[in-house]
Amino acid sequence: MNTTPPTACTAWTRLTEYRQRMQGVSLAEQFQRERDRARHLTLEIPGIVFDYSRQRIDAEGVGLLAELAGQRDLPQWRSALFDGAAVNSTEQRAVAHMALRAGETAPAEVRQTLDRMRALAARLRGDPGVRRIVHLGTGGSALGPQLIVDALGVEDTALDFRFAANVDPLDLQRALAGADPETTRFVVVSKTFTTQETLANAHAARRWLGQRDPARHFIAVTGSAAAARAFGVQEVLPLPDAIGGRFSLWSAVGVTAMCAVGIARFDELLAGGHDVDAHFVTAPLSENVPALMALLGVWNVNFLGSGTHAVLPYAHALRLLPAYLQQLEMESNGKSVDREGRAVDYATAPVLWGAEGTVGQHSFHQLLHQGTQIVPADFVVAGVSPELDANARAQADALAFGTTDPALPPYRRHPGNRPSSTIRLGRLDARHLGRLLALYEHKVFAQGVIWNINSFDQWGVELGKALARQLLTKGT
Ligand code: F6P
Repeated sequence: MNTTPPTACTAWTRLTEYRQRMQGVSLAEQFQRERDRARHLTLEIPGIVFDYSRQRIDAEGVGLLAELAGQRDLPQWRSALFDGAAVNSTEQRAVAHMALRAGETAPAEVRQTLDRMRALAARLRGDPGVRRIVHLGTGGSALGPQLIVDALGVEDTALDFRFAANVDPLDLQRALAGADPETTRFVVVSKTFTTQETLANAHAARRWLGQRDPARHFIAVTGSAAAARAFGVQEVLPLPDAIGGRFSLWSAVGVTAMCAVGIARFDELLAGGHDVDAHFVTAPLSENVPALMALLGVWNVNFLGSGTHAVLPYAHALRLLPAYLQQLEMESNGKSVDREGRAVDYATAPVLWGAEGTVGQHSFHQLLHQGTQIVPADFVVAGVSPELDANARAQADALAFGTTDPALPPYRRHPGNRPSSTIRLGRLDARHLGRLLALYEHKVFAQGVIWNINSFDQWGVELGKALARQLLTKGT
């Protein structure tokens, strides 16, 4: 499979030439030239419409991007991913989060763990002696479950759900405020069971429980069952090596979310992820939504020079999406060494940021419209209300087309020509959320293939951890 630098591909050179030819053509002109542009540059998959007509590209450019994906061997890498090859090369691991949502066709271990999660969720949801569930974990061991609970809401249970991730004791203090130790259960999620923040919080929780038996109050989700048992946990759910933290919400890591949203809705979430797997595996590259999301990102970063990417969900329920995607995209593709160990001489992952619309409009959108940096954006809309949809559309149009009235004073002019895509969910429910998250997961993988980097390790976080440990040992 191709592990050469992407810049060595003929499609890369042709994209550079294409960019030069297209430089002077604005989005407004492109819409004038191509009457059917909005229709042509929109793809539909079950439950999701992906409109990339406001990207600074046309059909020829999309063809060149698809050619680039072909030259990078994206189809072969995709097969390797789904066939269980060790695509996480620095750790010699396969990457198996798609198997977690494969339904009836999932491996036996996956179905067994899901059955255990369902039994546990049913028990906790129906236990009048349990009032609060506190989820302790950080990074991929927290962001996904927290997003699911916030997006879908707690349903048909009187249980109260809290999360604590920070080593700052205030986080746990707040999660425990008003709780009764007797009726509180902790779900400790840590793949390694060595993460200092999570263990500090777990130990603080044990102290808070006093003499109570930890076996009754703790559940663990981990790849290190022995460490969890040594801590005093009896109910330990597995987290296999092949499930990376930031891809793990579909696994037992999601057990807190399952307890909150209910078993049926968690199953729907999994089914939504599986829908997108089926699309990613079968759709041709130029009609493949995650592949195209990846390629348009590459276009913006490597050919138009954007260093950041905004995610703007127009739904309060999706307000945690930017934080979730920050880990997914930046921990995966924030790399500068390629699969062959060479320093790259092209840009990789942009800084991802964002906030819910319409709130962000009254804050940082000023920079999006008139700032000196061009920030490509994803508008995520879900038909929550006509006001939200109209605002998302208005922002995307204002960014793309700007103002045309020459009588306006300079400070009131909007230059326009600022690219965005719109991802429209048919509705905001578990199935659509699963689809949305799987789209971004495969986008990340496809970008890693284009950039020739391993998206599944995260060595960049290790040095800081080691230094903090040293400082703590020295008592600084
Ligand atoms: O420090 C980064 C990281 O390793 C993430 O990749 C991971 O999601 C998070 O920490 C938590 O790790 P663990 O699940 O092992 O506690």
